[in-house]
Amino acid sequence: MSHIPTLADLGDVGGKRVLVRTDFNVPMDNGVITDDFRIRSALPTIEWLTSRGAHVVCASHLGRPKGKPDPKYSMDAVRARLAELAPGVELMENLRYNPGEEGNDPQFVASLIQGIDAYVDDAFGACHRAHASIVGPPRTLPSAMGLLMQREVEVLLGLRNNPKRPFVAVLGGAKISDKLGVVEALLNVVDALVIGGAMCFTFLVARGYPIGDSLWEPDQVETCKRLLADSASNGKTIHLPEDLVGLDAAGNFATFGVRLPDGAKGLDIGPGTAAAFSDVIMDARTVFWNGPMGMFEDPRFEAGTRTVAQAMADTKAFTVVGGGDSAAALAQFGLDHDVDHVSTGGGASLELLEYGDLPGLEALRAAPNA
Ligand code: 3PG
Repeated sequence: MSHIPTLADLGDVGGKRVLVRTDFNVPMDNGVITDDFRIRSALPTIEWLTSRGAHVVCASHLGRPKGKPDPKYSMDAVRARLAELAPGVELMENLRYNPGEEGNDPQFVASLIQGIDAYVDDAFGACHRAHASIVGPPRTLPSAMGLLMQREVEVLLGLRNNPKRPFVAVLGGAKISDKLGVVEALLNVVDALVIGGAMCFTFLVARGYPIGDSLWEPDQVETCKRLLADSASNGKTIHLPEDLVGLDAAGNFATFGVRLPDGAKGLDIGPGTAAAFSDVIMDARTVFWNGPMGMFEDPRFEAGTRTVAQAMADTKAFTVVGGGDSAAALAQFGLDHDVDHVSTGGGASLELLEYGDLPGLEALRAAPNA
């Protein structure tokens, strides 16, 4: 990959106004931040700049307000938290209040960079979006990736290009169609794939198992069949659940084998599967995990995700957790300090593994100072 400018490439930032694109898209509950991990993750870059005399103006999106102001997505709570952690740093209003952000409108870019001398992108979690604040400023301003972005790119491209083997990817979460591209790309680099969460059901259908009323995506079954066949012929293993936990037709908690009866709904991997997945993680030398194994927000269906999280913490492998729900699960179980890298990006980490590049990185490489 050609050069992506780093903070040092900005030269002397003393007295300059620096726009820092951060991903402060934090989980909120009734206006209260429930996890400030993404805010804290931006602090090293902010401190690097302010300690050298720069005036920092942060900008982020929050949620998906669809191009117009919506108090539900106001940055007020984030601004208050930022003021506690980094006094004196400005934070603009939610970028997505303006349709120009997602539309990558040059006029919106111009308004963002008015009075700004340099741009830093530390919004790894949003770097897969070709939005105005991500790809616009580097067209004209001296630009750099921040320290968080630098570490994310190093770790994730390291996984993609030079993993210690066996390299195992553990995938879960709900929507398979979002992740099939990455399943396919990962099959080129991993030695084994472990599949849990709701996405396992489409694979189980492809294997011919009845799945009751569980979530699945009929239009993805053929692709799953092909991936299972390709992996077998390429010597890769796709591990699927052998037992499941969920609700029976009467709505009662139940444990099932891999065949679900009519009306039953699988909501977590079963104990046998959790133990088997844990063994795969313990024997690996590199593990990437994205997506919970079940509906872990409900204590009845958290055991599978907890077992995987514990194995991530216990294994000697180099462990990387990709953003969003899996990071939240780790934090919920108090294990977030026991893995090697928790990515601030969900979709971005998957896309970087899939494509080896992201729109935000391409934009930085083309910056005038690159
Ligand atoms: C995320 O939370 O994954 C990022 O902030 C991107 O948000 P988006 O999916 O709404 O673009």
